[in-house]
Amino acid sequence: MELPFAESYKMKTVEHIRRSTREERIRWIKEARYNLFNLRSSHVFIDLLTDSGTGAMSDKQWSAMMLGDESYAGASSYYKLKEAITDITGFDYFLPTHQGRAAENVLFSTMIKEGDIVPGNSHFDTTKGHIEFRKAHAIDCTIDEAFHTELDHPFKGNVDLGKLEAVLKKYPKERIPLIMVTITCNSSGGQPVSIENMKAVKKLAGQYDIPVFFDSARFAENAYFIKMREEAFKDKPIREIVHEMFAQADGMTMSSKKDAIVNMGGFIGFRSRELFEKASMFTIMFEGFINYGGMSGRDMNALAQGLYEGTEFDYLETRINQVAYLGKQLRDYGIPIQYPYGGHAIFIDAKRFLPNLPKEEFVAQTLGVELYIEGGVRGVEIGTLLADRDPDTRKNRYPELELLRLAIPRRVYTNNHMDYVAAAVINVFDRRREITKGLKILKEAPIMRHFTVELDRVR
Ligand code: F0G
Repeated sequence: MELPFAESYKMKTVEHIRRSTREERIRWIKEARYNLFNLRSSHVFIDLLTDSGTGAMSDKQWSAMMLGDESYAGASSYYKLKEAITDITGFDYFLPTHQGRAAENVLFSTMIKEGDIVPGNSHFDTTKGHIEFRKAHAIDCTIDEAFHTELDHPFKGNVDLGKLEAVLKKYPKERIPLIMVTITCNSSGGQPVSIENMKAVKKLAGQYDIPVFFDSARFAENAYFIKMREEAFKDKPIREIVHEMFAQADGMTMSSKKDAIVNMGGFIGFRSRELFEKASMFTIMFEGFINYGGMSGRDMNALAQGLYEGTEFDYLETRINQVAYLGKQLRDYGIPIQYPYGGHAIFIDAKRFLPNLPKEEFVAQTLGVELYIEGGVRGVEIGTLLADRDPDTRKNRYPELELLRLAIPRRVYTNNHMDYVAAAVINVFDRRREITKGLKILKEAPIMRHFTVELDRVR
């Protein structure tokens, strides 16, 4: 008998979670103004809101924390992290930050000015927020295949070179401070970018003398997909692929809360000493001295260890297999999801799940509310709420994809939990024709509204 697949870790600490009743959940979500971010975590049974900062640290990470050096300057934890970053990514210079968006804040303060253009592949919302906050513009150059959820394509995160070149031709070089490539591309469904595409982007950018940065929150999952799907790399170890990936970039931002499996942390990697020195000033202003930038010594130690664990093949195989395990159950039942399955999450195509709801009634958010009521499972809307209003016209932006994301925390849930989630989604799918009314906004913030928006049911 062929031995079946099994997880590459076992559990040492557990946390109790409680199932609630449907009546409780109907009350709680109403009190939360139909915003899943407003729910208490104790009112959630399986929390798939995000894979960010929600992973389970290993025994080695916890023990590394005990050795944290909390010196303000020159701490051994800083040097340990520096070594790990250079070893894994190949970047010689780095600045620590407290999380990914702080890395964006520091980098963009250094590089972006009003009126600038930042092309990329479906920039993440905080990335776009930081660009637009500076009165600059993010231009999405993702390949069209990404927007057809049923279409099979191995690298739906890829940059469309034609779209990118059109942007590079249209605007003068002085207005394009950088190109931002997100690996994996979260907003298009946790979809990877191929090395071939990274190389082509770098070459094109080189012709126009524009630096390329990677938003690297899920770089290790991207490397795993490259190993599985890009012929030339199938026999290469993950860390070698990671090196080859980052060789195509001039720098990187990192939310370490994802693929480095820590609860808090981030950094910026640079090849240029000059840029690193310029950015250091903003780190000191916004984050802290350049030897800790918003992180404690123990956090830097856990992060250094996490970078190694997050780039181990066995771990990545376990992780990506679990996401696919959930995805397969949904797909086999005929539930419309982004395919191939994402690295960190399954994305349900809400427009196709609830075709009768008008787009003005926040289709994916409505689906998220229904799934919560059904089983106490919390996902997150990646759709119209998240897309915010157009900064110039203030009109709602309706993105091509209206998704409910079920993000799987790393090393946290078992496949029994995945079975439960699949059953809850299937139950909502079976009663989808009864869901005829969506949601309306009562109150919203001018930017990144989805975190705090207040909603009510359309009657
Ligand atoms: N870039 C990407 C691709 C992200 O997914 C995120 C965060 C960030 C940058 C910002 O990092 O949260 O550490 O400040 N994504 C989380 C998510 C919030 O749920 O997908 P951060």
